[in-house]
Amino acid sequence: MTRHARIAGLGSALPRRIVTNDDLAAMGVDTSDEWIQARTGIRARRFAEEGESASTLAAEAAREALAAAGVEPAAVDLTIVATFTGDQPLPSTASFVQQHLGITGAAFDLAAACAGFIYATEVGASQITTGGADTVLVVGTEVMSRFLDLGDRSTCVLFGDGSGAAVLSPGDEPGVLGSILENDGTHAHILEVPAGGSTRPPSEETLAKHDHSIRMSDGREVFKRAVRGMADAAGRLLEKSGVGLDDVTLLVPHQANARIIKAVADRLSFPMDRVYVDLAEVGNTSAASIPIALDHAWREGRLTPGDTVLTVAFGAGLSWGANLIRWTAEAPR
Ligand code: ACO
Repeated sequence: MTRHARIAGLGSALPRRIVTNDDLAAMGVDTSDEWIQARTGIRARRFAEEGESASTLAAEAAREALAAAGVEPAAVDLTIVATFTGDQPLPSTASFVQQHLGITGAAFDLAAACAGFIYATEVGASQITTGGADTVLVVGTEVMSRFLDLGDRSTCVLFGDGSGAAVLSPGDEPGVLGSILENDGTHAHILEVPAGGSTRPPSEETLAKHDHSIRMSDGREVFKRAVRGMADAAGRLLEKSGVGLDDVTLLVPHQANARIIKAVADRLSFPMDRVYVDLAEVGNTSAASIPIALDHAWREGRLTPGDTVLTVAFGAGLSWGANLIRWTAEAPR
């Protein structure tokens, strides 16, 4: 019998500290609540507090996902952590997640920026269908606040911290139906953290220039490419899966900007009342964005067994992609 991969449970974690748009202005960012809301739809985001890191938030989200799935941590034999704001350059943040949860098996980080959870879900599902793993923990986790330059108002207002996790298990019926994974390296520098790696290791100069922070050289270009990339990936994935747009119960897009989300829905001629949006209070959490939104949608009762959910994301790389998922998990009690 064909072995399929299904999402058995979800969880998410947001730091307690809420930072509103007005708070950012009060912290010295040359901006206003009116500008940020009008251009992005974001009202507030969370910032990690001392002691919180990509792995501690990931572990919190993972515990919730494992409990919701009814799976013991010891059953996990593969941990994939999508992040670009990991605890340290070495070892992997997945190693720290294993340490927090007391789990073993294979573990690695995956770097595909905002599309990280889409990539990780496809890799995890493939490991299950080919028999390489039985229980996969897939996490998207980011502490963006530690990579922001508050002097760069065009970028720092967009991002927030958080973590989302999914437990993938084998199933008799299809769960993860298919994926599209894309990357266009010709635009690798358009969205980047320019220093801190082997090209430009930390120095007095990189620190003085705030080059360990996220830089976006052309926000408008990223905006246009995000709309085209996500709509295209969604359309191609539905076509190759033989699933019609009308059969999609819920579209869960990367939560970057309300205007990007609306433009993607318009391009697909997909109704906004079947698009899940939680960015107003969460902001753009990069690789954590999709699993946090999925978890919120699931806990609000917007995803029930038999539903078909389409996730799409776009970000640095430039990387983008989509997952098509038949929902099988009962809502958590
Ligand atoms: N507060 C107040 N004014 C600002 C701010 C701010 N935070 N940021 C920029 N401005 C000003 C600019 O200086 C400019 O002023 P000027 O007209 O006097 O020169 C004006 O607002 C317009 O700036 P634009 O950059 O043209 O504004 P735009 O409408 O393009 O919105 C934004 C900018 C929100 C960054 C948009 O381009 C965007 O969302 N791009 C996508 C980027 C994105 O989401 N990146 C995240 C990672 S990739 C991803 O997740 C998809």
